[in-house]
Amino acid sequence: MSREELLAIARDVAQRAYCPYSHFRVGAALIAGDKLYTGVNIEISSYGLTLCAERAALAAAISAGAGPVTQVAVACIDARADAPVNERTPCGACRQWLADLAPKATIYIDGAQQDFTVADLLPYAFGL
Ligand code: THU
Repeated sequence: MSREELLAIARDVAQRAYCPYSHFRVGAALIAGDKLYTGVNIEISSYGLTLCAERAALAAAISAGAGPVTQVAVACIDARADAPVNERTPCGACRQWLADLAPKATIYIDGAQQDFTVADLLPYAFGL
């Protein structure tokens, strides 16, 4: 799937985000084994237990027994138009999930000029 198509899906799915506390909607769409998986951020009343969109999408893919993850698109649809890239990129926890579960993926960030590898986002990642 093209970068722009996957980003469009990530933007679309972000509308289903459950984020009553931050009101910051995030969508993730990924291709794994030629199939599409999506996720949104899900917040609960115990804020620290929030699930990010990237981890929700990766959990969906792993739960479905998907093949290797090749592309991941992330869209923070409530980021300001002039927000810097660090307000759109995956958080530290999601970077570790990506390093473990999508090490070969190309990562597309909505509103960012360049694409990323996991090593770009998390150099010297921990791994077992
Ligand atoms: N969020 C994500 O879904 N992905 C990230 O990588 C960064 C943050 C969510 C978590 C929370 O629901 C909201 O964005 C604000 O932090």
